[in-house]
Amino acid sequence: MKFFIDTADVDAIRELHDLGMVDGVTTNPSLILKSGRDILEVTKEICSFVEGPVSAEVVALKADDMIAEGRKLAAIAPNIAVKVPLTWDGLKTCKVLSGEGFMVNVTLCFSANQALIAAKAGATFISPFIGRLDDINLDGLDLIGDIRTIYDNYDFKTQILAASIRSANHVKDCAMIGADVVTAPPSVIKALANHVLTDKGLEQFLKDWAKTGQKII
Ligand code: E4P
Repeated sequence: MKFFIDTADVDAIRELHDLGMVDGVTTNPSLILKSGRDILEVTKEICSFVEGPVSAEVVALKADDMIAEGRKLAAIAPNIAVKVPLTWDGLKTCKVLSGEGFMVNVTLCFSANQALIAAKAGATFISPFIGRLDDINLDGLDLIGDIRTIYDNYDFKTQILAASIRSANHVKDCAMIGADVVTAPPSVIKALANHVLTDKGLEQFLKDWAKTGQKII
């Protein structure tokens, strides 16, 4: 399973990139706001060191305007995935831009039928939002499973990019279900390394080591 990092914080992406944890990056208008940076400038900087797909999202609502924005974003670097919302105009944009050879990430997906129609429109990635479904007491992971079944039934090549990931358990569950990619905030990726028994075991080892009076260096 690939890891995309869900942030426009360049320093956080670099830290994880140096550890080999970054297969791609996703951004959205809220994350651009949080970064305090200009979208074209920060996206270009991310693309200068991330080799995998970097999603940059259009903000227009009409297909013609979305297509124009998408082409402008795609011109930043060859690894840009143009992110479009799962609306009818977004699907039209997906069809046109994927036909031109650009990667397209269809975002704000909350149902299996939406994922089905995005695949038919040529999406490179479909982004079902797990956490936001959980927030309203629906099961986001069920949605990932349903999409996996549908895509496998018909051999769709669209990759399932599980988004709105809020916890380490989400990552594990997505891996078990067979999502192709998870996009998660840096804090969640770092939390994958945590275990209370690791901390406890290390504490005991260090106590015992101190009693030996030895040094390695
Ligand atoms: C995905 O591409 C989105 O940027 C993101 O995962 C949304 O997550 P949120 O629901 O935590 O805002």
